[in-house]
Amino acid sequence: MVKKILFVCLGNICRSPAAEGIFKHKIKDRDLEMLFFVDSAGTGGWHVGNLADSRMREAAQKRGIELTSRSRQIEENDLYEFDHILVMDNDNLQAVRSLIKDRSHPANKKIKLILSYSQDSQLNEVPDPYYGGSNGFDEVLDLLDDAIEELIKILID
Ligand code: 4NP
Repeated sequence: MVKKILFVCLGNICRSPAAEGIFKHKIKDRDLEMLFFVDSAGTGGWHVGNLADSRMREAAQKRGIELTSRSRQIEENDLYEFDHILVMDNDNLQAVRSLIKDRSHPANKKIKLILSYSQDSQLNEVPDPYYGGSNGFDEVLDLLDDAIEELIKILID
């Protein structure tokens, strides 16, 4: 069975496309692509149709990771379509949860903070690098790399 994974942030141009790219890069390296369908989305729609922020694409490219996805806004149906929904921060968590009208719906259990999988980080949230300096993009990539490594281990276990 193909597992469907959705990464979510606010704009879908920095953190979640990076998470999508890292996840895809890791499963390609390990010949596990057939096991997963991976996508990303934003809770906001300001950047719909855009490639990831050029600063994030550049930082990822330096690690050999190509970010090719285009921004889209999350829809309620994503909550039922995807098996795992990994969000970057608590605002995303609230926004995604609010798409499900029924508080007790099992889909609520699919939504998790990506850094809950992290082994290294004391942080709970992936900081938004959009308004920060260029090292913010590398920090995001490091945080995501660590958490996604653990996530993949759990998903293939
Ligand atoms: P992201 O970063 O949620 O990691 O994609 C942001 C991108 C754009 C904006 C905010 C955050 N914005 O306000 O346009």
